[in-house]
Amino acid sequence: MTWGMRNRLGRILHPETGRGVMLAIDHGYFLGPISHLEDPGKTIEPLLPYADSLMVTRGVVRNCVPPGTDKPIVLRVSGGNSIAGGDLSNEGITTSIEDAIRINASAITLSVYIGTPHEKQTLLALGELVNQGERYGLPVLAVTAVGKELEKRDARYLALCCRICAELGAHFVKTYYCDEFERVTGSCPVPIVIAGGPKMETTLDALRMARAAVDAGAAGVDMGRNVWQSPEPVRMLRAIRRVVHDGASPEEANASKE
Ligand code: 5RP
Repeated sequence: MTWGMRNRLGRILHPETGRGVMLAIDHGYFLGPISHLEDPGKTIEPLLPYADSLMVTRGVVRNCVPPGTDKPIVLRVSGGNSIAGGDLSNEGITTSIEDAIRINASAITLSVYIGTPHEKQTLLALGELVNQGERYGLPVLAVTAVGKELEKRDARYLALCCRICAELGAHFVKTYYCDEFERVTGSCPVPIVIAGGPKMETTLDALRMARAAVDAGAAGVDMGRNVWQSPEPVRMLRAIRRVVHDGASPEEANASKE
């Protein structure tokens, strides 16, 4: 890995601990104005101080994130699908590497849809993005997306997906938590962060998932809905930080008044 690549990745996953708390706020690229993200700027503003990095599209960066921020941007560069369309897996690259550099992105990200009719197209897009990322020192985050098929999220499938992403050169991978998560982390040679998935019943449930993921070898989280759809988003994000960075138990993190 080049110096620039290491430096950028180190802004997202802390170089000393390898851990990171990413705030995923890119959902509008296929879901439109999803609940609590109708005005992304308003959602982002109070959360920004407590996120290590922001995962966003170029439209949201340009219009809703203050350019003076020192938070690293993980730029989603894939899309072309929508919840109203026929097949969520039919994604392609939407944003050039030059635009990612102009935005001063610290990493670029896309989704891959393994086991779908668009497996090959999304995996080749990952390969091409890694080629471009290597050229300019920009790390690539591969997201192992499942679209509407949430039942796919088991250790066998997710281990397959994460390993393939790493083999194709992804510098880090985002996937879902599942039972026997050590099988996923243990067979993937690059860091893994977990998505939160749909909003869970309680904040404690989401904190327990984050704790279990980190204990099973995850580098941290790249969470969205379980943070900004929570009744107290700032408190939730701070609690997640305690779990990921301070080794707090879910109960300790949830009980903290700060
Ligand atoms: C969409 C994404 C989202 O960023 C991801 O699902 C994380 O958000 P959440 O915690 O809400 O699941 O990559 O494909």
